[in-house]
Amino acid sequence: MAVLYDESRRLFKLDTANTTYMIGITEDGYVGHVYYGRRLNRPGGEYLLRAKEYAYILSVNAREKEAFLSSFPFEYPTQWTGDLREGALDVMNEEGQCGCELFYRDYEITAGKPSLEGLPASFAGEGKAAEGVSTLRLTLTDPVLEIDAELIYSVFEKEDVITRSVVIRNNSGKTRILQKVYSASIDMDAGHYEMLSLTGSWARERHIRRRPVGIGKQSVGSIAGKSSHQENPFIALVTPGAGQDTGEVYAMNFVYSGNFTAQVQVSQFDSLRMCMGINAENFSWTLESGDHFTAPEVVMTYSAQGLGQMTRHLHDFYRGHLIRSPYLHKERPILINNWEATYFDFDTEKILSIARKAKESGIEMLVLDDGWFGKRNSDTSSLGDWYVNENKIKGGIAALSDEIHKIGLKFGLWFEPEMISPDSDLYRAHPDWALQLKGRTATMSRQQYVLDLSRQEVRDYAYECVAKILRTAKIDYVKWDMNRELTDIGSAALPASRQQEVFHRYVLGVYEMQERLVTEFPDLLLENCSGGGARFDPGMLYYSPQIWRSDDMDPIERLRIQEGTALVYPLSCMGAHVCCAPNHTTARSVPFETRGHVALSGTFGYELDITQIPEEDLEMIPGQIAEYHRYHGLIAEGDYYRIHSWSGEEPWDVWGSVAKDRSEALYTFVQVLTRPNVRSRRILLPGLEEDTVYRLEGTEECYTGGELAKCGILIPEMRGDALTKLLHFTADTRA
Ligand code: GLA
Repeated sequence: MAVLYDESRRLFKLDTANTTYMIGITEDGYVGHVYYGRRLNRPGGEYLLRAKEYAYILSVNAREKEAFLSSFPFEYPTQWTGDLREGALDVMNEEGQCGCELFYRDYEITAGKPSLEGLPASFAGEGKAAEGVSTLRLTLTDPVLEIDAELIYSVFEKEDVITRSVVIRNNSGKTRILQKVYSASIDMDAGHYEMLSLTGSWARERHIRRRPVGIGKQSVGSIAGKSSHQENPFIALVTPGAGQDTGEVYAMNFVYSGNFTAQVQVSQFDSLRMCMGINAENFSWTLESGDHFTAPEVVMTYSAQGLGQMTRHLHDFYRGHLIRSPYLHKERPILINNWEATYFDFDTEKILSIARKAKESGIEMLVLDDGWFGKRNSDTSSLGDWYVNENKIKGGIAALSDEIHKIGLKFGLWFEPEMISPDSDLYRAHPDWALQLKGRTATMSRQQYVLDLSRQEVRDYAYECVAKILRTAKIDYVKWDMNRELTDIGSAALPASRQQEVFHRYVLGVYEMQERLVTEFPDLLLENCSGGGARFDPGMLYYSPQIWRSDDMDPIERLRIQEGTALVYPLSCMGAHVCCAPNHTTARSVPFETRGHVALSGTFGYELDITQIPEEDLEMIPGQIAEYHRYHGLIAEGDYYRIHSWSGEEPWDVWGSVAKDRSEALYTFVQVLTRPNVRSRRILLPGLEEDTVYRLEGTEECYTGGELAKCGILIPEMRGDALTKLLHFTADTRA
């Protein structure tokens, strides 16, 4: 078992293939974080708790208890009894007073991984995947509040991942109010680190940002009710200069799709606290006696070999232990989506004409996007009225789906089940179903309100709207969209004492609906989306094997979005489409071939009016489709290598996917800007076997893996901006 308890040293040791995590218990019963880093063979290092340093032995010098609490490396810190740093747990008692202290009670070590009630969470899997997965449950207790905190650690040996979550139980016979419950916190000596996060905005999500870590708090987070365009629920602490192969990395990723905080704090005593959990702003949770609260899961990984190893471990972990969909390892149908082709302006004939042309080119599925229901001819109305607009789609969705299937394509449909338009029959019947604050007109965004999914009857209605259509028409794929932030956080159905539960109850409501959907329709291919990529998080991946990465399909803008997204999430889960030119978001025109090559590193599709595009572009589609079929397995299942990120000095972008058995690799080279009067450029291509000979597809050129990684290859000068080259190497059987 990868978890052991050394009774004599009062030390828990959690081991993965390359890392060790240790937790210690002091004589006074405080539970401290001892060590996280490169693997150790034996338990040790408990002196790092500094529990015996003068002034810190409470039985000897209780007058300095505050100094002790403010500097002890807690495994799960609490608030308002002395630790002046950010606490993970803040609890109010029946007197309205806050203050909590936790002491060790007992532990349990088991094989496998428990699920988390009502929440997405990683799992051990079956057969070989489940080998090397075990769980430590540490129970801590506050004897005054009479609450227990169960800290759950699951160890995934092969992927170098440890997950954490927390269950708080109220055994007191009284009411307890949770003001804050983070899921994970680790304390260590400050050292020199940078904080890396994925930040952005609509149409430029998840750009990689690094900033030096200094005294005080540096944090990212969301209060938008979703994980957000602006910040992704991921942070890493990296040593300065850490690159793809060098440097240390501590990463945390939140399996949650709502408000979050991810923070690094350096204290007066040069200790560093890294924590992650549900954002405490506008959050509280009333725990009646006997109740419990489960905090979502945090995924942690440590790499002593740079960001590349972190990325590959996270990709393996999400593919092996989080994404459940039966489509995970399957080739997804190549789709054509009508959104940027028609927006709201379409009818059956237009959709069928796109479908026919798409079929001729080898495309496999048509997705009908926004605008098919109610009176929705613009974004001013009808969300909530999920019945077909017969003026556009005569005969209804089932008839259209039959026609599309007759053409030989699968059929997918867009929904935005979490929303309600003020101009809708639903709103006229149930104005109280929208989130709102008493006495205020709710704030509109994209001319819509948000449904109060904390209410069961609202969830049932919204779910049935989707399910009814799926029960009566043949629908192979659903795009589940969510196009605004949450504001006006008030529910007409909850008492005053529970209004601050709305944000979290909303997220639990979304999870419940998506769980119902994938359970009732196990063959459905579900793609999550949120105004592009505002809910691109591990929580969503538990329900859908793919997520729309960004509304920005311009391949040049996409390079940064792809790089940031792929730092954490596997390529197999990134929705990527070929757009038309000029691109609707950036107005940039990029060659069709480049649009195809960039979109290939994701779940591939088209989003353009195929009946209108230039003939020479149309003629390229069958070739692009063949490329997708040839390379998709490699891209989806391979090891990802980030090689160059384009910048002023190096105006090219390079990444690769290498087969797990090292038999082949595909590298994508994008020349963003041309540079005149230079020689061919030398690019190192890592990942292949040192001594195996590989042939470059379409040529007679052969290289050993060692040559490719160390000498590199020469990319001849290319004249023009936004040009690409795919480099596919296969082990040369003749060698
Ligand atoms: C969001 C999505 C788009 C499209 C529109 C429809 O912006 O990200 O892909 O579905 O909504 O309104």
